[in-house]
Formats: sequence, structure tokens, C-alpha cells
Amino acid sequence: MVSSSTSAYDWNFGDGKEEPIHRIHSYPAKFPAFITTKALQYAEREGVNVKVVADVFCGCGTTAVEAKRSGKNFWGCDINPVATLIARVKTCHYRDALLARYFGAIQEEFHRTEPSPESRARVSDRIRYWFEEQNIEDLIRLDQAIRRHIPVNSPYRKFFHCGFSNILKPASRWLTKSIKAQLDPHKSPRGVMKAFEEQFALMRKANRQNRFPAPEPQVCIRTRNFLASQKPAYRADLIVTSPPYVTSYDYADIHQLSTLWLGYASDYRALRKNMLGNQYGVKPTEPGAIKELGSGAWKTYRALLREDRCKARSVARYFLDMDKAVVKCGRMLNHGGIAVFVIGNTQYKGVRIDNAAHLAERMERADFHRVETVRRKVSWKIMTPYRNARGRFTRDSTQRKVYGEEFVVIGRK
Ligand SMILES: C[S@@+](CC[C@H](N)C(=O)[O-])C[C@H]1O[C@@H](n2cnc3c(N)ncnc32)[C@H](O)[C@@H]1O
Repeated sequence: MVSSSTSAYDWNFGDGKEEPIHRIHSYPAKFPAFITTKALQYAEREGVNVKVVADVFCGCGTTAVEAKRSGKNFWGCDINPVATLIARVKTCHYRDALLARYFGAIQEEFHRTEPSPESRARVSDRIRYWFEEQNIEDLIRLDQAIRRHIPVNSPYRKFFHCGFSNILKPASRWLTKSIKAQLDPHKSPRGVMKAFEEQFALMRKANRQNRFPAPEPQVCIRTRNFLASQKPAYRADLIVTSPPYVTSYDYADIHQLSTLWLGYASDYRALRKNMLGNQYGVKPTEPGAIKELGSGAWKTYRALLREDRCKARSVARYFLDMDKAVVKCGRMLNHGGIAVFVIGNTQYKGVRIDNAAHLAERMERADFHRVETVRRKVSWKIMTPYRNARGRFTRDSTQRKVYGEEFVVIGRK
């Protein structure tokens, strides 16, 4: 039986402000760093000798950083190339003197050189749409300087491209903090070099403070669809992960500026294809597969069918994909290993979508044992549970709902 508990173990609060390394690049639905340290303590208290930690939806690498800092080897993947860029940068330690030297060379080149025709050609109309003329020129110049001074496969190229990626929105006309692609006609975009200098200062400070034990644990981060291969990618003792929520973020859309500019795709919409929870272009699920839905998922699907057929399909597809993900996680874990999933429930047109209950049910089915679900407060959001079009928290209930709680679902192999 799946148990829902308030567990003596407290998953609620960490030790305060996130360290600079977790703030070098914005990322939606990033979880707090202390979740990983708590999961590690929890697993060790349960008698698991944790050597390898995995995060199969690793996002911007929160689990990766904390696992490495705690002296554990790490394996992770994410389908979003912007996520894995950030995660790789956060888990690498850079030589401060070399960072400063590269930065000086980039600045000098930026002020000295005009964009070449090839650099200009790299920028599509789709990108230009978001920027004013001066900022487009400056961004081309900056990108060109990074590419000229830092070798293609160097981790330092990734460092500067990560910084470049994080200034794209402030330097554009993208509505600040909006998770939808929306132009703000009233916005005054930030100047490119000023924003980049501040970004560099933040990343440099974060890098100085980001210490890993010696010998450095191994970190392997892949850009891939976790569901794609049958064989477990790696063996782990502890999985700490937070799957995408259905009807929540469209990561391909949100990161389109970085994806297009850094050349990860010529059409960012192609990245939606295998993203879990994606609601675009989801075909009707085969009748046989629908029968595989668990009882709660089936009820949700039926209730949604009455409201919106497309949404019902995408939710069914999400549940079926999550079933596969749970089975794959089970295969990845060593005997006695623990999986910790952080997940929230959502709502659509009044229909409650109980992701946590579904996950717990499927874990039982995939032979996880002692599955427990612990409610966790998402602290400060409770007072202002809605977000307006500008992404600001508000009490206005006609706006998009922000969830004040989420769940930690734990199971053992
Ligand atoms: C809730 S976020 C994880 C955030 C992460 N815990 C962090 O702190 O940054 C979920 C992630 O799942 C990724 N994702 C969605 N579908 C995927 C798939 N099929 N394979 C791998 N990753 C996927 C998304 O790109 C997103 O980064």
C-alpha cells in the first residue's frame, strides 16, 4: 500500500539563501539545493552506502553540484541542451586566472572588431525579432569574440556561453520573467557589455566558492531523452530527481533564445518532441496503451476528456511516459538503492492532476518497496499563490496558479 506521511524526516527548509553557483543561470522549476543534501543524509541513515548519485531529469544540475561536493560520483541527463550546458558549467571548476585572461581578451575584441558576415549570418530572423538593432550588433560581436578566443571543445567556451545565454533575455524585449514567449513593447533592454560584465563577475565569484573534494568525483552529464534507450545508462545508489510536471513549463519555448543562438537547433520547436509533459502535437494514444493507465490516471484522463480532448491526450501521454521513467529508474538502481522524486500536483480547468499519487502507485507497480509520499511546503509562495503576466507573484485568483506545496516520493529497490 502506498503511504502518505508527514515523516519525521523534514524536507521543508534548507539553510537559507542559495549559493552563487546555483544562481549563475535562471532555470524554471529548479529545486532547492538542500533537497540533494537531505536525500544523501536520508539514504545514509537508511544504511545505503552511496557511491553514485543520478538525476535523470537533471535540469541545470542542482543535484549534480551537490552530489559532487559531497564526494559522490554523478550521472545525469536532460533532453534540453541549455540545461546540460548550465549543469556542465556548474560542475566544473575553472582556473580563476584563465577566466580573467579570457574575459580580458573577449572585452578587448568586443570593442575593437566589427561583426564579420559569417557571424551575422548565424543570426536568424527569428532571433532578430526579439532584439533592438544595437543589441543584436553587440551580441553578435560578443559571440564572435567568445568563439575567436576560446577553443571549440574547451570547457571555458561553455563557461562563457553559459554567461552569454543568461544575458539574452535581459538584453532582449522578452517580457521579464514571463514563461511564455511574449514581447514587451515598453521594456528597456539591458546594454549587452554591461550585463555581460555583471554576469561574469557573478560566475567568477560562484566559481571561486564552488569547491569540490579531492580527488574530484566523476561527473557525467548527457544531453538525451531518458526514455530513449532500453538499457540502464548507469548504475546508481541514489536517484534524486524532479520530473517535469504535466501542463507546466514548455522548456523548449522558454529557452528558445539560447537554443537558437547557440545553434542547438534551427527550429527550437523540434526539441519539444520527446519532452515529457509536452502538449504540442501529441497524437491520440493507442487504445491498448490507454488501458495501461493506473486507476487514478484513468479517472483524470476521463475528467479531462470532458473539458479538452487535446489536454486529455497530453496528460495520458505524460502518465504513460512517467510509467516508463519509473521502470527505468528502478533498473538503474543497485540493490537496496533509493529513489527520491520531487513532484507537484497540478490542475486544469478544475480537474486535479495528482502527479504524486500517480508516481507513488507506479513505483509500487515497478517493485519499489516502502514507497512513501511526504508533503513539502514551497515556503514563501503561499502568501501570494498566483502569478501575473509579468511573472510577479500576486493574490489575484484570476491569474496563473502557483503551487504552495509539492511532494517528495521515496521508494527503495
Ligand atoms: C523540473 S525540471 C528539473 C529541474 C532540476 N531539478 C533542477 O534543479 O534544475 C525537469 C527537467 O526534465 C527535462 N526533461 C523533460 N523531458 C525529458 C526527457 N524525455 N528526458 C530527459 N529530460 C527531460 C526538462 O528539460 C527539465 O529540465
